[in-house]
Amino acid sequence: MKIFHTPQELQEYRKTCQGSVGFVPTMGALHNGHISLIKKSVVENEQTIVSIFVNPTQFLATEDLSKYPKRTQADLKICSLANVDAVFMPEVQSIYFPLEPTIVAPFSKAYILEGLSRAGHFDGVLRVVLKLFNLTRPDRAYFGKKDAQQLYLIQNMVKTLFLPIDIIACDIIREEDGLALSSRNIYLSNEEKKDALLISKSLKIASKTIMSRGRKTKEIAKAMRETLLPLHVEYVEILSREFEPLESIEIGNTIILVAVKVGTTRLIDNIWI
Ligand code: PAJ
Repeated sequence: MKIFHTPQELQEYRKTCQGSVGFVPTMGALHNGHISLIKKSVVENEQTIVSIFVNPTQFLATEDLSKYPKRTQADLKICSLANVDAVFMPEVQSIYFPLEPTIVAPFSKAYILEGLSRAGHFDGVLRVVLKLFNLTRPDRAYFGKKDAQQLYLIQNMVKTLFLPIDIIACDIIREEDGLALSSRNIYLSNEEKKDALLISKSLKIASKTIMSRGRKTKEIAKAMRETLLPLHVEYVEILSREFEPLESIEIGNTIILVAVKVGTTRLIDNIWI
């Protein structure tokens, strides 16, 4: 497995790649969620490139970037065992320049939900993902449905900037008990982990309610909030796949999204209906 630290090294390597290239962008501290994306790419492409880069522009000034978990050696081992061809782990200075044009995510879809409490977050995500796309020039890029809003905004960027890349949306990987895997789960105490199970439980209740009692989004959101009562709920939203509000569930075109705080840890989850 090749390891590259500079854009130039990666670009030289890319010129030598034959066949289709799959790309999995990550911020490291890899868990089974990331690994599922990597495995899918390895199966579907001749070459797979994984990036590990804690992108400063997607963190708010108030968020402590240095606290983001770093597990470089373990991450490299995971990639190597998964038959990844190349890992790109650049320094911040080699990715960002003092003067550069910047992409801005569409306001109406980037300043709701995750973007409401993290203004500018998605501008930073698109900024780095566009740079990484330009360096890796992938045929396919793999993203988790776990970050549904991020996935939507990246799909929108690829479509509207005419980037010749297939975005592959990958299912959410969960613990056996239902908790969606996240690098933030390490911050949860045993007690908090139990509380966090209410999140996936509320989503299950929502899908059951849809089957048995009807499709009015207000009622479903209310039932979910009742389940989530012991937690600090930031939002429960039922939206279309284009992130527009829905009065009634449309099967095949609905995402139910939840953000809560368990103790001091903020967790998100969703279900696609
Ligand atoms: P990161 O949080 O490291 O996530 C990398 C990818 O793993 C994302 O596409 C995310 O949706 C996916 N992922 C995380 N948990 C998952 C789970 N439980 N099941 C399935 N997929 C999961 O998302 C980012 O990094 C960054 O914003 C990035 C796109 C790399 C840009 O900096």
